[in-house]
Amino acid sequence: MTRIVEAGPAAAAVLSALYESAFGEAWAPDQLAQLLAGPGVFALIALDDAGAPVGYALGRVAADEAELLSIALLPGRRRRGGGRRLLDALIGRCVAAGAGALFLEVATDNAAALALYRGAGFHEAGRRRGYYKVGAAMVDAIVMKRTLC
Ligand SMILES: CC(C)(COP(=O)(O)OP(=O)(O)OC[C@H]1O[C@@H](n2cnc3c(N)ncnc32)[C@H](O)[C@@H]1OP(=O)(O)O)[C@@H](O)C(=O)NCCC(=O)NCCS
Repeated sequence: MTRIVEAGPAAAAVLSALYESAFGEAWAPDQLAQLLAGPGVFALIALDDAGAPVGYALGRVAADEAELLSIALLPGRRRRGGGRRLLDALIGRCVAAGAGALFLEVATDNAAALALYRGAGFHEAGRRRGYYKVGAAMVDAIVMKRTLC
């Protein structure tokens, strides 16, 4: 991955394809476009040397608080520092927009994401019981927070 670009609703189809490759489930382009058109919502897309999209981060800033809505790298592009670069870029974007704190939710069994977030200075701020449905099972979410300024 060589660079990160900001994108708007026009990138919904690209983001939808990245999401499906990363998570194995659909996020319809029209729903993504609607989300991206909402107040304070932005997308960052990571591109490789050839300009092909390999990952993304979605964020939302509302007043002085921000939220990481989703982040993912294509399966074959992980463990190369791309997730951390995207997260750092998202943090910079939130700071520039005036946010003083960034929140996110992560499944308790997502070891890779938990390690990424802890390494970037997030700490546990709460739990949501049975927040994610994984097959027939319900998995708790950890709410994490990082102060930004
Ligand atoms: C979470 C995710 C975005 C991390 O992206 P990545 O590009 O692989 O992460 P990086 O290479 O930047 O790694 C940064 C740090 O995260 C941690 N990490 C990343 N992958 C890890 C893994 N498989 N196991 C343990 N720790 C991991 C490490 O602490 C790593 O630092 P290190 O390489 O110095 O040890 C990626 O695994 C992914 O796309 N997962 C599927 C989607 C997902 O779960 N998104 C988060 C939903 S909340």
